[in-house]
Amino acid sequence: MTPLSNLAVRDVETLVHPYTNLATLRENGPLVLERGKGIFVYDTSGKPYIEGMAGLWCTALGHGNEELAEAAAVQMRKLGFAHLFGGKSHDPAIELAEKLKEIAPVPTSKVFFCNSGSEANDTQVKLVWYMNNALGRPAKKKIISRIKAYHGVTVASASLTGLPANQRDFDLPMAGILHAGCPHHYRFAQVGESEEEFATRLAAELAQMIEREGPDTVAAFIAEPVMGAGGVIVPPRTYFEKIMQVCRRYDVYMIADEVICGFGRLGTAFGCQSLGFAPDGLSIAKALTSGYVPMAGVTVPESMYQALLTESRKIGTFGHGFTYSGHPVAAAVALKTLEIYARDRLFEAAAEKAPQFQARLRRLGQHALVGEARGQGLIGAVELVADKASKRSFDPKAGVAPQAVRLAEEEGLIVRFLAGDTVSVCPPLIITPAEIDELFDRLGRALDRTLDWVRRERLQEA
Ligand SMILES: Cc1ncc(COP(=O)(O)O)c(C=O)c1O
Repeated sequence: MTPLSNLAVRDVETLVHPYTNLATLRENGPLVLERGKGIFVYDTSGKPYIEGMAGLWCTALGHGNEELAEAAAVQMRKLGFAHLFGGKSHDPAIELAEKLKEIAPVPTSKVFFCNSGSEANDTQVKLVWYMNNALGRPAKKKIISRIKAYHGVTVASASLTGLPANQRDFDLPMAGILHAGCPHHYRFAQVGESEEEFATRLAAELAQMIEREGPDTVAAFIAEPVMGAGGVIVPPRTYFEKIMQVCRRYDVYMIADEVICGFGRLGTAFGCQSLGFAPDGLSIAKALTSGYVPMAGVTVPESMYQALLTESRKIGTFGHGFTYSGHPVAAAVALKTLEIYARDRLFEAAAEKAPQFQARLRRLGQHALVGEARGQGLIGAVELVADKASKRSFDPKAGVAPQAVRLAEEEGLIVRFLAGDTVSVCPPLIITPAEIDELFDRLGRALDRTLDWVRRERLQEA
């Protein structure tokens, strides 16, 4: 074991790291990054890495963007903080809300700002409850999410999340949250079931769940267009068309969690456009500011806004909001980010680069370790399996995907492991075709080395 650097020692003595095995971190130490430029980040020894995850699916414009830095500095000098409570307002928040209304893929009356994807989804839950109280249907409160969904980690959003590690020993999920089936054909389709048949079955199961619970108790359904942290799961063909029919039939408010898919990731402004469905409301975050400063939001349709007005008249206030809702510096950075996306046609460029990205990704599907290579637009993943024919997984304790991620780091590539021995890639949208090739060359080498290790350790034996 190599001794930890001074910074690494200070880190393990001071930080509780999110989403980390805190025990192994004490032995291995963190990878300490110092600076970034374009799609590259550099550690404290100066070693460059391709940031194959755009940080946490967010840094769409890559690092070192001077225009974003300038936009923040100008706004900090002009008005470093202002809020939207109690009738106050400011120009950057107003302009950003106008811009978002203009580009939203569904009719949008208003925008509510917050600071993280989790806050956005917590806000969605509260708004739906509040709306249904205003509409005089106080029993219609249950929210349906999906197994393997990722919607955040606050109490309500972690309850919506459908991953065991986010709930186990946190006493979650809370009451009133249900999880429908996961739309992952490779893992959950029945033998011989086509994508369309699988989608039909999932929609029928959702309808059965609503009937079982009672339609007048089910308020909303929330879904990521392409599931992210659950394993980069692209739903089967016709899935959302059929799910939307069920939501409409039972008057269930449909929320698209666009926290990853929003702002070009799938080659369209919003993920629901790529997947061909029209939700009632959106949760947005991450690439809204290219991750440079925290900002998130919820779009509110006119019907919901009318309900909020009714409650405000009755109660005397709309009693929800964060100190930093619509923070002027964050709003200024978001406005500049959206301006750059439009000016540089980055969503169209993502669509143009997607075929190459997906072709390189799918070539990894032939690798001896890869059970499935999947993705859409500029997001993808490979699922590592012990046996391709039977789709048998490795023992999670063997840590095969974490080992692949470590070896990728040695190859100068940052990727991420997700539950189910899945390794994900989600580079900045500004990645060039040559850099896409380089990313997949490095990932291929990391997988070859992982396979050597798996064979040495005899991990493929049943
Ligand atoms: C789809 C989705 N929703 C919500 C969240 C939660 O966002 P945050 O970590 O900003 O709270 C994430 C985070 O990765 C996400 O991917």
